[in-house]
Amino acid sequence: MSTSRKQTLGVCYYPEHWPEERWAIDAGMMVEAGITHIRIGEFAWSRIEPEPGHYDWGWLDRAIETLAAHDLGVVLGTPTATPPKWLVDSMPDMLAVGADGKTRGFGSRRHYCFSHEGYRRACARIVTDLAKRYGRHPALVAWQTDNEYGCHDTVESYSKAALEGFRDWLAQKYQSPDALNRAWGNVFWSMEYRSFDEVELPNLTVTEANPAHVMDFQRYSSDQVVAFNRLQTEIIRTYSPEVPIAHNFMGRFVAFDHYAVSRDLDIATWDSYPIGFLDRDTDDEENKRRYLGVGDPDNQAFHHDLYRACGQIRNGEAEGRWWVMEQQPGPVNWAPWNPAPFPGAVRLWAWEAFAAGAEVLSYFRWRQPSFAQEQMHEALLLPNGEPNEAYEACGRISRELDRIGAVAQPERAEIALVFDYESAWAWKIQPQGRDFDYLDLVMRFYRALRQWGMSVDIVPPQPQAVSGRKLVLLPGLFAGSDALVDALAASGAAILLGPRTGSKTADFSIADGLPPGPFRRLIDMKVRRVESLPPFVDVPLQGGCRFDGWREFLVTGADVETRRVSADGHAAHVAKGRVHYLGGRPDAETTRVIVGELLRDAGLEPRELHRDIRIRDNGDIRYVFNYGPETVDVLNLVDTGSVLFGETQLAPRGVLAIRKT
Ligand code: GAL
Repeated sequence: MSTSRKQTLGVCYYPEHWPEERWAIDAGMMVEAGITHIRIGEFAWSRIEPEPGHYDWGWLDRAIETLAAHDLGVVLGTPTATPPKWLVDSMPDMLAVGADGKTRGFGSRRHYCFSHEGYRRACARIVTDLAKRYGRHPALVAWQTDNEYGCHDTVESYSKAALEGFRDWLAQKYQSPDALNRAWGNVFWSMEYRSFDEVELPNLTVTEANPAHVMDFQRYSSDQVVAFNRLQTEIIRTYSPEVPIAHNFMGRFVAFDHYAVSRDLDIATWDSYPIGFLDRDTDDEENKRRYLGVGDPDNQAFHHDLYRACGQIRNGEAEGRWWVMEQQPGPVNWAPWNPAPFPGAVRLWAWEAFAAGAEVLSYFRWRQPSFAQEQMHEALLLPNGEPNEAYEACGRISRELDRIGAVAQPERAEIALVFDYESAWAWKIQPQGRDFDYLDLVMRFYRALRQWGMSVDIVPPQPQAVSGRKLVLLPGLFAGSDALVDALAASGAAILLGPRTGSKTADFSIADGLPPGPFRRLIDMKVRRVESLPPFVDVPLQGGCRFDGWREFLVTGADVETRRVSADGHAAHVAKGRVHYLGGRPDAETTRVIVGELLRDAGLEPRELHRDIRIRDNGDIRYVFNYGPETVDVLNLVDTGSVLFGETQLAPRGVLAIRKT
């Protein structure tokens, strides 16, 4: 039985930045705007413990009481992303070390090394004291561990602590140096080790390090994030067993395995900055202009779908929970340029998240600070404490949420798009063509699915995640397992493999008997050559499609049909029944065409949508969004449903909600 949860607004608040007399005014204004969840505390270590071992709980007690007195729910952050100066000075080797071998300095945040045992002990102590003090407070609605693990490229540290931890991790994994040498192929270039103590970290090598070495270091580094988070969640669950635990992940960030961290979380959340990301989301200047003040029409939705999957890991699909912990309210301070949201964008972002099943959408931040690093980052309030535009938008959104009685009730989608962190690491380690990027490859398929009006689940490469679907796409999955192949074979779904799917073993060698390795059980074919190409050449296919940057040369068995051929006569897209293999990276239009065919093959009904229109279903409500600059007639998308709010002549950045019948 799935639990429906009321959808609501939140905000990130820093009471320690403002005079105490102001707190009650702020709380009253939050209530007025319909905000219910207030995140506090995640950077406040120097105020909670101003001197080693001496806590000042008074201000935090009073801040929580003020919020509680207004019936606001508190999301309490552990302050471990910002260790104070006295702590760093007491153990300077807790600082992270960059790949250049230089120690990172104090004076911003996230300066710690995940592997450092002394820092872990310091975190355990403050988290214990925080959880003991507030863990059963009636206003507490959730915990947030740390803040944005990995932000500012901080997952990998090349410190002494990391080196020792890595050697130990390798010893546990391989048991003997010989096994490690075999797995990594260290006979190559005389890289063989006689003991684990001889292994170094894979930085500062003359040329590229062994990809298997880098891959294991990435796995090790990811495991340290998991362990660091678990240390906190175990403590919190001891002293605060009733309160769910969240962490705020980031967009376009793959340096650790978010599924693995999510095993210890009750709620997955992420920080959504649609305009800030636009510059990284697309190279297309026309799109950048068109979506300058609203962001890429698919990037936020991709992350909503990804983090919904993370939120389902611990509690199962029906009980999974996810939020947006930080939502952009206005111009930010950190992108190359920081344009203002177009009119309506703030509201559109909120509804795109609620449509994907978010339970809480929380703004970053309440009031723009007039001091320090983020003074140019807008907030719901101006620096002088008066309402800014996004504050007004909150009032409207919360009234709409109430009006339609919005609850989070995402349904299992018929389409699963596999996203795998190890594959992201593998192709970063060995791109083979400068612009080969795993996230970009998966995004191409995600965009095409959205452009055909589909709701999609992003899933890990696990048997249970792919079973029971009508269409499963696994582009670029670097290694396959027999269990996954069995589940795919049993699913009866239409399946898309390639490019590069199954091309390696987990040890980072070329797959046995040639790619696609274990997936050859689904389709009798081999990849005998790959080539990468610079941006000024592409590979035309007969009939108008094209690959860009990557192509493969395929050999197929007798029962495999060739669906597409390159203009120079090589099989490019092959299929056996409903199992397809694509031997190249399709450009945007080719991806759209091929995905359209797959959808029809899978018995689904793709819809031709206007380029700016996107759809998402949440339970019995269908949401339609217009990301573009022109009004679009979307009457045909109402089908037999009834309009809950919005116009069928959908204005720029407009949202239409339809109750499906
Ligand atoms: C996030 C971070 C916040 C704040 C925000 C600014 O990455 O979690 O603390 O820095 O960005 O946009």
